[in-house]
Amino acid sequence: MQVVDNIAALRALTREWKRDGNTVGFVPTMGNLHQGHLKLVKRAKAHNSKVVVSIFVNPLQFGQNEDLDAYPRTIEEDKQKLIEAGVDAVFMPSVRDMYPRGLDHQTFVEVPDISNILCGASRPGHFRGVATVVSKLFNMVHPDDAFFGEKDFQQLQVIRLMAQDLSTGIVIHGVETERDATGLALSSRNGYLSAEQKHTAASIYKQMHIAKARILDGERDFITVANDLADALENVGFKKDYVHVVNAHTLKPATQEDTHLVILVAAFLGTTRLIDNLQINL
Ligand code: PAJ
Repeated sequence: MQVVDNIAALRALTREWKRDGNTVGFVPTMGNLHQGHLKLVKRAKAHNSKVVVSIFVNPLQFGQNEDLDAYPRTIEEDKQKLIEAGVDAVFMPSVRDMYPRGLDHQTFVEVPDISNILCGASRPGHFRGVATVVSKLFNMVHPDDAFFGEKDFQQLQVIRLMAQDLSTGIVIHGVETERDATGLALSSRNGYLSAEQKHTAASIYKQMHIAKARILDGERDFITVANDLADALENVGFKKDYVHVVNAHTLKPATQEDTHLVILVAAFLGTTRLIDNLQINL
């Protein structure tokens, strides 16, 4: 596996690969890799002859009171996992190379309608930071395909719109959420949870399934379903950020006409904010 921290070297590498007839699959990450990330890598390997993974903890997408400094950095373990997964190159740019003008960075990518609701409402500027860094990474890697987890459902939709609106020509793939045996969605933030909190966290998946079953059984009062789900989570110790049943494409409140829905949950356990979702096809 090639370890590249230089933008020019990365461009040269993917250009050469493409010249030799390869297609390039790209998996952007912030590191601290787990089986969820590796599932994206596996999907990319199945689809493309060369795979690039980036590891970059992007300051632009963290709010002032968020965990940028505390965000887990485990570079050596990450590299080992990527070698074992058969990745061709890991790209680890520095903050200075990514944002040479620092706080004076001028150009941003915004996808407003879908960014300012849900997670974007509780994390102002977050999706602008995500869309901007992913656009920059796309301009560096020049992939044919890029892979994102459904775990971060709103992020996936933001990226899909951005890729289409900016005519990137890059095919965006959504990959199903990887979970542990209890149903808890794998996340770097699970590392902040105590053993007891981890046990409690598993109820998100359980309660989303109860809500999904009600809707599949014909319940169409989506607000009540969402409120009941939120109550069930608060009863076991969560503090709700939001719980909604929405249209899976627009992320606007679900209506009677919608046939592809998603239940979106964001809730705190102690100081740790967890998100999860479950899709429903009617
Ligand atoms: P990060 O949180 O490291 O996630 C990298 C990718 O892994 C994202 O596409 C995310 O949705 C996916 N992922 C995380 N947990 C997963 C799970 N349990 N199952 C399947 N996929 C999972 O998301 C980011 O980084 C950043 O915002 C980034 C897109 C890299 C931009 O900075």
